[in-house]
Amino acid sequence: MERLPFRALVVSEVEGIGIRREIQQRSTAELPPGDVLVNVQYSSLNYKDALSANGNRGVTKRYPHTPGIDAAGFVVSSIDPRWQPGDPVLCTGYDLGMNTAGGFGQLISVPGDWLVRLPEGLSLLETMQLGTAGFTAALCVLGLQNNGVIPQKGPVLVTGATGGVATIAILLLCQLGYTVVAVSGKPDAPRFLNDLGVQETIARKTFLAGADRGLLPARWAGVVDTVGGILLATAIKGTGMDGVVTSCGNAASGDLPLNVYPFILRGVHLLGIYSANCPMERRLQVWHKLANEWKMDRVSALCRMIGLEDLDQEINAMLAGQSKGRCVVDLGELR
Ligand SMILES: NC(=O)c1ccc[n+]([C@@H]2O[C@H](COP(=O)([O-])OP(=O)(O)OC[C@H]3O[C@@H](n4cnc5c(N)ncnc54)[C@H](OP(=O)(O)O)[C@@H]3O)[C@@H](O)[C@H]2O)c1
Repeated sequence: MERLPFRALVVSEVEGIGIRREIQQRSTAELPPGDVLVNVQYSSLNYKDALSANGNRGVTKRYPHTPGIDAAGFVVSSIDPRWQPGDPVLCTGYDLGMNTAGGFGQLISVPGDWLVRLPEGLSLLETMQLGTAGFTAALCVLGLQNNGVIPQKGPVLVTGATGGVATIAILLLCQLGYTVVAVSGKPDAPRFLNDLGVQETIARKTFLAGADRGLLPARWAGVVDTVGGILLATAIKGTGMDGVVTSCGNAASGDLPLNVYPFILRGVHLLGIYSANCPMERRLQVWHKLANEWKMDRVSALCRMIGLEDLDQEINAMLAGQSKGRCVVDLGELR
């Protein structure tokens, strides 16, 4: 295959310095062998990318490495007969951006099984405005719906509310007629979240008052939790009869300090959400929904468009818990 040069964010470990992130000129010869070469037009920044870009061995074992768990673009070449040059495709999750060079590079080389054809009803840009965050938010909402949480059952709580997954979950829940209550650690969150349709925003500190009690007054019919730890435990303790709590994130902690009372006294269901290895059938079903009956007009308003050179700063903000909404990365033209 012809060797093509391209630009990518490369994260390296440098002795005495630690982690270094820089934009480098790479060659397709350095990409892993894959069935399909894709020219990435857009990617997006997710929390997992920030971890990978910070040397987190739980996400990425080998450096130098190019993160980016999301990518959308056009097939350049393929030895998989399902994919032809020029096909518009997206790739989210699997090993992309973990130990396979990811979407923060203008070219990716991936197995054909990882690709999803651009769904009718969405542009490449719109798929990355959603990205893994939007896809995961949709999995959470689907989990609530499939387990009987209808809008009439009561409010749905969303934690880490100004983050990528949470903001899209809020938009989707509001569009579907749910009453949404949010928890956020940011002092200026209420105005931002009210604009998205949230009925009430509770400050993180206030929410955690009483966290040490065995059970809290039943308030939530459903929960979308993106932070884990004591916040998730508190949300579960405040969930009502047969309520459903979806757990997708660990932005605060991977621990869950909890007792069994919400489960044995109220029948609360705890539902784990995973997106990276989501089976293809469910993946296609969810992308179809996002392109049709769950299409959200306001996602673009949550997004800032950035270039590769802006990633360093945005990654640091995300690791510090300071980011709001979504960052879409425009990879620019191949030169
Ligand atoms: N299971 C999956 O397949 C899957 C897929 C996508 C993402 N995730 C996970 O979901 C989580 C959110 O991802 P994201 O991309 O939305 O990240 P994000 O944009 O950085 O949002 C995370 C939000 O969590 C809150 N937060 C951050 N640090 C916190 C802390 N120490 N204590 C309490 N709250 C804190 C902040 O919101 P406030 O300031 O508003 O409180 C922050 O905006 C991450 O853990 C990510 O790994 C999982």
